[in-house]
Amino acid sequence: MTTDSTNELNHETREAWNINASVWDAKMGDDGNDFHRMLVRPTTEQLLGIKPGHRILDIGCGNGLTTRRLASLGAQVVGIDFAEEMIAFARRRTQPHETLIEYHVLDATDEMALLQFGEHSFDAAVSSMALMDMAEIAPLLRALTKLLRPGGCFVFSVMHPCFNSTHTSMVAEQTDRGGELVTEYSVKVTAYLQPSITRGLALENQPQPHLYFHRPLNVLLGEAFRAGFVLDGLEELAFSSKYTENNRFLAWTKFSQIPPVLVARLRLL
Ligand SMILES: C[S@@+](CC[C@H](N)C(=O)[O-])C[C@H]1O[C@@H](n2cnc3c(N)ncnc32)[C@H](O)[C@@H]1O
Repeated sequence: MTTDSTNELNHETREAWNINASVWDAKMGDDGNDFHRMLVRPTTEQLLGIKPGHRILDIGCGNGLTTRRLASLGAQVVGIDFAEEMIAFARRRTQPHETLIEYHVLDATDEMALLQFGEHSFDAAVSSMALMDMAEIAPLLRALTKLLRPGGCFVFSVMHPCFNSTHTSMVAEQTDRGGELVTEYSVKVTAYLQPSITRGLALENQPQPHLYFHRPLNVLLGEAFRAGFVLDGLEELAFSSKYTENNRFLAWTKFSQIPPVLVARLRLL
């Protein structure tokens, strides 16, 4: 059962993503940004181990980036998002021949609504960079224990809660090392252990800041363990030091030793 406070948080979150949908869709396009293409997508696909014919639930699907990609690999994919505008962009980007895809406007914090898909109706579930945008994740995790077939897995990517949250800052320091000017990159962490709710930006030019739900690892994974999942895959991803395309003074592409993204695989025993 959702509480009044979850309803309020959901309301603000949905409004923000509806307002930001066109900017998000323009940035992600059909193929995603560098975060998606270089960090999130390859690792998600590797952990998912998709087989043609697999039925997959894509939670917080946005403009359908992952939904379409998994369908192109032969999976039947159901994309859900509670922002109607996002689903409208997802539908617009989906071609008539992409018949393995269906979309639903659906709130992932609503356990009963999720259960409409039926017990054991998915081989796997995926959520790409969306759990940190969700007011609650326990209802989703509980629902997935019923929706997934025995042995099924849930692969999710999030902003790495240790290094990439609204409580971290990117730092660049220039030092004279014996006549050579060296720039060192680091991350300053001002808070971590306490779960928090703050407003922030996913894209610099998004018109409306949205809510971030920071969960330290013990809370994020603890919710999954309490629902009955075990963790059987974990990757922490940073850009390769060879990747120099980005000319901005401070960008994640400069931090080859600090991972902005975490991808995990949960499994039902
Ligand atoms: C950062 S976007 C990621 C979109 C997409 N997965 C991608 O990788 O491009 C986060 C998405 O999560 C959705 N979202 C947030 N809370 C949700 C909820 N409770 N139920 C369904 N979708 C939700 C937002 O509407 C938004 O589209």
